[in-house]
Amino acid sequence: MRLIIINGPNLNLLGKREPNVYGNEGFESYLEKLRGAYPALDIACFQSNSEGAIIDKLHEVGFSVDGVILNAGAYTHTSIAIADAIAAITSPVVEVHISNVHAREPFRHHSYLSKNCKGVLVGFGLDGYRLAIESFVHA
Ligand code: DQA
Repeated sequence: MRLIIINGPNLNLLGKREPNVYGNEGFESYLEKLRGAYPALDIACFQSNSEGAIIDKLHEVGFSVDGVILNAGAYTHTSIAIADAIAAITSPVVEVHISNVHAREPFRHHSYLSKNCKGVLVGFGLDGYRLAIESFVHA
């Protein structure tokens, strides 16, 4: 099974960025553990701070991988273009947010992406990425 994790803006700073909200672990070390826990899976990873690069990656992989795990960061709350890209591709997308966006500022409560996603995982910390993998493995 081929999966890809796509992380959006500022998620390259995990471990350093607002640790009270996003925790102390960097994504690289978390990803290493995740790959170790699922040796049979091919788990690619892509991060970009740019909306267009995220859309380009969705176009590139979204007709071939078995699942996309997408944390679009703040673009979640602003990007009709990423929502359209999710609708355009055939691979199922699971939306993940590390923090519980519904317990935060009102502008984080709305996602343009959720309606085009298979499901949404919110507020489970980095474990949300593992739970998204589980959702594909047990689909
Ligand atoms: C986030 C939540 C977003 O509101 C925020 O802009 C992020 C991270 C999360 O994983 O909790 O960058 O997607």
